[in-house]
Amino acid sequence: MTLQNTDGIIAMVDRATQQKGLRISKTIVIIGLMGAGKSRIGRDLATKFGFSFVDTDDEIVRAAGCSIPDIFELYGEKAFRDLEERVISRLLSSEVQIIATGGGAFMNAKIREEIREHGVSIWLKAGLNVLVERTSRRKSRPLLKHGDPATILQALMNERYPVYGEADIVVDTRDIPVDDTLNATADALAAYIDKQLELKYDE
Ligand code: S3P
Repeated sequence: MTLQNTDGIIAMVDRATQQKGLRISKTIVIIGLMGAGKSRIGRDLATKFGFSFVDTDDEIVRAAGCSIPDIFELYGEKAFRDLEERVISRLLSSEVQIIATGGGAFMNAKIREEIREHGVSIWLKAGLNVLVERTSRRKSRPLLKHGDPATILQALMNERYPVYGEADIVVDTRDIPVDDTLNATADALAAYIDKQLELKYDE
């Protein structure tokens, strides 16, 4: 059975086998803080549902022709944010896909607005300890270079979590092993789509 809602989200539901495939005509945008697992989950979700996957930081590096630490150091954070805005805007207006954004992207009101219009946002919500542990594995994040990473991440949580809370879907990854986060995210997405369909048929 194929159903379409007013938002253009299509769910193909085979109730007999309880198998659920998703055909979505909006880009899925993964948001969350550094270390939340956005790229990993985004890539796995794309594989699971047969979409292409893009990491916006990778696109920014490609567009700039240099690494993110170099962009911050040579041109400043503002230049990075401008590039981020342009890259995400372009990705949202191209084919439907799954994109993982950098942690600061959803803090930009224009990007938020475009995601609201052209995408479905999923916030991977993680606790401080997880973020500290995961970000310690890679030393290339400019925002964590100067100061104690735990203190910086806690400050970013305080500032950003209320805004991330505007996402369409929130997946609380705190109590779930990493490997289960993919299933939790897929389930949350399916539930969101079902809800959209119910809303349509209640109209
Ligand atoms: C940033 C997060 C990074 C990268 C840049 C700024 C942020 O991406 O975009 O260093 O402001 O939180 P990840 O969240 O993928 O690490």
